[in-house]
Amino acid sequence: MGSGNIIHELNIGGVAVPRNIILAPLAGVADSAFRTVCMEYGAGMCVSEMISAKGVHYGSRGSVILAEHSAVESPFAVQIFGHEPEIMAEAAKLFATEYGADIIDINMGCPVPKVCGNFEGSYLMTQPELVAKIVRAVADAAGVPVTVKMRRGFSQGDENAPEIAKICEANGCAAVAVHGRFRSEYYSGSCDRGVIARVKQAVSVPVIASGDVTTREDAERMFAETGCDGIMIGRGALGNPWVFREIITGEKTDVTGELIRATALRQLELSVMEKGEATAVREIKKHVAWYLKGRKNAATLKNAAFAASDADEIKAVLAEL
Ligand SMILES: Cc1cc2nc3c(=O)[nH]c(=O)nc-3n(C[C@H](O)[C@H](O)[C@H](O)COP(=O)(O)O)c2cc1C
Repeated sequence: MGSGNIIHELNIGGVAVPRNIILAPLAGVADSAFRTVCMEYGAGMCVSEMISAKGVHYGSRGSVILAEHSAVESPFAVQIFGHEPEIMAEAAKLFATEYGADIIDINMGCPVPKVCGNFEGSYLMTQPELVAKIVRAVADAAGVPVTVKMRRGFSQGDENAPEIAKICEANGCAAVAVHGRFRSEYYSGSCDRGVIARVKQAVSVPVIASGDVTTREDAERMFAETGCDGIMIGRGALGNPWVFREIITGEKTDVTGELIRATALRQLELSVMEKGEATAVREIKKHVAWYLKGRKNAATLKNAAFAASDADEIKAVLAEL
C-alpha cells in the first residue's frame, strides 16, 4: 500500500486538530502525564478519561479532576458519560467554560456492565431517541463542538452505528468516532473496518476510526478501506507512545533502552507533578510494565517496579535498561 498523504489537519466543528492521529480515551490509563507524552510524540489531540456527568452534577472532585490537562494538550477533548440530557449538558458546559475543553465527546461505547446497567455508555446505542435528546442538549449547552464515540452496535450482529451516527449528526454532533466492535465483543476478536466505511457513507461530518491500529501499515489500511478522516490509537500507544511519530512520519523507531528510560522518566516526572509522588508511583507501575514488554530481563525488572515504594526505586529500575 502506498504511503500517500494520509496525515492532515482535521477540522472538528471549527476546532483545528493539527494531525489526524489521536490518542483514544483510556479510562484508568491515559492520564494527563501519559497524554502529554503522546502529544510530545506527535498525537494531534488527546481525549480525557471518561467522566461521569452525574459525578460532576454532585460535585465529585474525583470526577472533575479528570478534565485537568497540561498546556501541551491542545486542543483537548473531554469525554463525558451519562444518560440524562440535562445533567450531561450541565457537565459539558462546565468543562467547556471552566476546564478549557475545546471539544466535548459523549461516550456511547463503554461496555462495562456497571455503566450499561445505568443506561449509559454503549447501552445508549439501543436508545436512538434518547441519543437524539442527549446530543441536542449537549450541543446546545456546550458552546464548543460536540462529538460522539460509539461502537458498531450493542448486541452481536445488530449493527446500528450508521443509524446512530446519522442521528448524532442531525442533532448537532461535529464528528463521530467509531470503534468497530459490538458491545458484546468488549475488546475481543478484531475490529470490523466495514462498519467504519458504512458510517463514513452515512454522514458528512468527520469520521474517526478506532480499533486495532498499532502501526503505520495498519493506519494506511484503515484509511484506505474506510475512507475515515482520522484514527484513534488506544492500546497500541501503551508503552509505545512513539507510535504517533511512526504513523505520522512512516519511519520506524529504534526503541532503545535509552528511549524507553527517557520517556518513562518524563512521564513519571509529569505524573509526580500532577498527582504527588505516592499516587504517581502507584499508577506508573502498569505503564513501566508496558514499557518493559519484550525487553531483556523484563520479568525481573517488572517485579522490581511493582515492588517499588517511591520514585527513586522506579528510576533505579529504569536505569537497568
Ligand atoms: C483500558 C481501556 C480503557 C478505555 N477507556 C475508554 C473510555 O474511557 N472511553 C471510551 O470511549 N473508550 C474507552 N476505551 C476504548 C478505546 O478508546 C478504543 O476505542 C478501543 O480500545 C479500541 O481501540 P484500540 O484497539 O486502539 O485499543 C478503553 C479501552 C481500554 C483498553
